[in-house]
Amino acid sequence: MICVIGGAGYIGSHCVKRLLERGYNVVTLDNLEAGHLAAVVGGEFIQGDYTDRWSLDGLFSSYPIECVMHFAAYASVAESMTDPARFYRLNVVGGYVLLEAMRAHRIPYLIFSSSAATYGEPRQVPIAEDHPQEPTNAYGETKRAFEQMLRWYDVAFGLRSISLRYFNAAGADPDGQLGEDHHPETHLIPLVLLTALGKRAVIKIFGTDYDTPDGTAIRDYIHVTDLADAHILAYEALKRGAPTTAYNLGNGLGYSVREVIRTAEQVVGRSIPQEEAPRRAGDPARLVASAERARRELGWQPQYADLRTIIETAWRWHSTHPDGYADRV
Ligand SMILES: NC(=O)c1ccc[n+]([C@@H]2O[C@H](COP(=O)([O-])OP(=O)(O)OC[C@H]3O[C@@H](n4cnc5c(N)ncnc54)[C@H](O)[C@@H]3O)[C@@H](O)[C@H]2O)c1
Repeated sequence: MICVIGGAGYIGSHCVKRLLERGYNVVTLDNLEAGHLAAVVGGEFIQGDYTDRWSLDGLFSSYPIECVMHFAAYASVAESMTDPARFYRLNVVGGYVLLEAMRAHRIPYLIFSSSAATYGEPRQVPIAEDHPQEPTNAYGETKRAFEQMLRWYDVAFGLRSISLRYFNAAGADPDGQLGEDHHPETHLIPLVLLTALGKRAVIKIFGTDYDTPDGTAIRDYIHVTDLADAHILAYEALKRGAPTTAYNLGNGLGYSVREVIRTAEQVVGRSIPQEEAPRRAGDPARLVASAERARRELGWQPQYADLRTIIETAWRWHSTHPDGYADRV
């Protein structure tokens, strides 16, 4: 059985769905601080806090769990700079509580949601896994710290894990059942589509003077269902004896902010109000993954790689769920 921590959130809920489709037994643990009960489409659900050892002991002694997929974290870069304590408490101290509980209950495998933010300002693109990890924000630092913790937990205790460094998660369940609903929303594609729906007045383009063809920042958008598939492949690799390691997950294709807005306008069939604004501190010009190792070693093959498809799936969700899961006031 697989335990998905943070399985009521955006990426975790897509992963739960994919695991169930593949016939795995799943138990989701989520405190619903940011997640949505309606996003948990099946399996067992426990509402609880993963930083609470007592909750974890109860869960781990009630179910025959072989692998934990760990999605629960605070992920706003800007907030991590004003309140790093909160990020260390959840992302690092919480991670320690989780690993100790896994050790006590002899759970052998963990898949961890890491991030491109662990690399910091890229020295070259595309970014491969051996690029130096020099985060430029506290969020990325907490992800790097937990990755390092995982390395030593394998060396000393034999707990094997795979860290998956996502670039920009995007898109929605191709069936239209699940989607992205963060409060506040900080990701470009949902913000653009919420603007198209009239839920927001304008989409701001932060920085138009980058050294890129159209002057706006370039990012690697990776479909959430492709991320979910990579988790399953990583778990299967661990079961076959794969060592503790980390993989990038991205398409290796970069799209600029203007390209995203233009493609979204084609998908929704109308123009979207936009406004140019100064660069935000700490936003690199270009973040693009090399995910060759995940393709080669895990056999990962993204199915929804092109930007238009990613935006179409997101639009299917937003246009039919203009208030998201409608469970937040
Ligand atoms: N979205 C991206 O583009 C992106 C990119 C790189 C890495 N990541 C990482 O992927 C993971 C998932 O991201 P997401 O966008 O799905 O986030 P999300 O906020 O939608 O999901 C996180 C889930 O964890 C739950 N949670 C938070 N604290 C908890 C606690 N103490 N106990 C139990 N559950 C708790 C929340 O309720 C939520 O359901 C995060 O670790 C994030 O750092 C995301």
